[in-house]
Amino acid sequence: MQTQYNTVGVAGAGAMGRGIAQIAAQAGSTVRLYDSQPEAVARAIQELGAQWDRLREKGRMDADAVAACKERLRPAASLQELADCGLVVEAIVERLDVKRALFAQLEEIVAVDAVLATNTSSLSVTAIAAGLKTPQRFAGYHFFNPVPLMKVVEVIAGLKTDPAVCEGLTAYARQLGHTPVQAGDTPGFIVNHAGRGYNTEALRIVGEGVADFATIDRILRDQVGFRLGPFELMDLTGLDVSHPVMESIYGQYYQEPRYRPSVIAAQRVAGGVIGRKSGEGFYRYPDGKQQVPAEPPVPAVDELPPVWVSTRASRRSELLQLLKDLGAKIETGQSPSAQALTIVAPLGFDVTTVAVVERLDPARTVGIDFLIEDAAVKRRVLATNPATRRDMRDAAHALFARDGKAVSVIRDSAGFVTQRVLATIVNIAADMCQQRVCTPKDLETAVTLGLGYPLGPLAMGDRWGPTNVLEVLFNMQTVYGDPRYRPSPWLRRRGAIGLSLLHVEE
Ligand code: NAI
Repeated sequence: MQTQYNTVGVAGAGAMGRGIAQIAAQAGSTVRLYDSQPEAVARAIQELGAQWDRLREKGRMDADAVAACKERLRPAASLQELADCGLVVEAIVERLDVKRALFAQLEEIVAVDAVLATNTSSLSVTAIAAGLKTPQRFAGYHFFNPVPLMKVVEVIAGLKTDPAVCEGLTAYARQLGHTPVQAGDTPGFIVNHAGRGYNTEALRIVGEGVADFATIDRILRDQVGFRLGPFELMDLTGLDVSHPVMESIYGQYYQEPRYRPSVIAAQRVAGGVIGRKSGEGFYRYPDGKQQVPAEPPVPAVDELPPVWVSTRASRRSELLQLLKDLGAKIETGQSPSAQALTIVAPLGFDVTTVAVVERLDPARTVGIDFLIEDAAVKRRVLATNPATRRDMRDAAHALFARDGKAVSVIRDSAGFVTQRVLATIVNIAADMCQQRVCTPKDLETAVTLGLGYPLGPLAMGDRWGPTNVLEVLFNMQTVYGDPRYRPSPWLRRRGAIGLSLLHVEE
């Protein structure tokens, strides 16, 4: 089997180095695995052997292929033994000084045309290469954990990297069965940068007391189709990992407000309440099983009041049709009667502001998030304002739950939950395109493969309307006066023609 690099060195035999060694051996390269702890190499080789045996037992690999992989994976007792490697991928401890020292040594050992690559997830590729005699042959090669299953790899050019080096790594990624994407040498590269919106905005919503963790998770799963809610995801990754990433990207972008981390996460890290691995995170895990707080029941309401819908409601005709289908008595006057439950459906504004601006009685006003069409969501989200009467809140909850669809009632928040999280994700992605971190196409590919989102962020923007996303952001910026909601110029420009028109070059 001919590969781009016939002999590949892997430095670091931890979780990542092991995975990289596995797919490189499977692709047909001879792999020399080195670690400063020789027992780590021995352990990795033993575990990979056992893994290949399991694949054979399951019929995914035949006996010859397994034997060949085992033969190709070889321990290296010293760095010197990587001398004949055409490529060395480093996956050692995430420290700039240690990585630099390793590459300074390697540079003296390998051939002049050998390629050197780092799997760093948070350091600058340019900074690691800075001390080298030939930084031209150095690039980032960022895999995700677990490497064999996460089929995307970011190829990162430092300031001095020769484009031919990235081309070689790109071709080799395909031979490894992975999808390569090109990322600029910027904090978080593509996936970790694009992933900022989901967790940080969700933490902000909790920080404002709008809803609890479990409710936010339910809303984002049921309205948008995320496989895991942001708090379940943070519990799975562990805040000890995800919070430093948030801090690092925020710091590296010189306190750009879009990436601002959360004090809630910082406090939980300090207290050791970091997720599944510590037995408690946002959820509790007695015996390893997630404990989910029960949902509040649908209130029993004997008689529902008539309903009046704001003339400025988002998707108003659809909302009226839904209310009709739910059997509501709909008022059609210019303004609500004295008994009417008043429904508003703002984009990016809070219910209180809308009640004041539209001169509605706040005691009878309830908001619904109608950014996404009702047929596409498994849950409806209502928001009260501080003056909403209990009977009106209960009536709205009971009415919108009449057909059996789940309903969450949250406190007043500009942008509810879904609008603000989606708008934040789309806006960060748009800004990455503006900064040319990567092409729009690679952004979509990297995020769907690397983060498992139901759609790429740009396709999400198109799916729910770029002008709606812009409206949410403009209005949130007005309500909060916070530059984190400032729409990216790229979003403003592309909003009119579609965000995911991948063939449109600027
Ligand atoms: P790990 O802690 O599982 O393994 C690191 C290995 O490197 C250890 O076996 C250690 O003995 C060895 N090592 C440390 N210093 C060394 C040196 N000077 N020379 C040779 N070997 C040395 O770490 P993990 O998770 O595999 O991460 C490795 C790299 O991959 C880091 O740069 C990390 O940021 C990056 N990365 C990690 C991901 C993850 O999810 N774990 C995802 C993507 C990148």
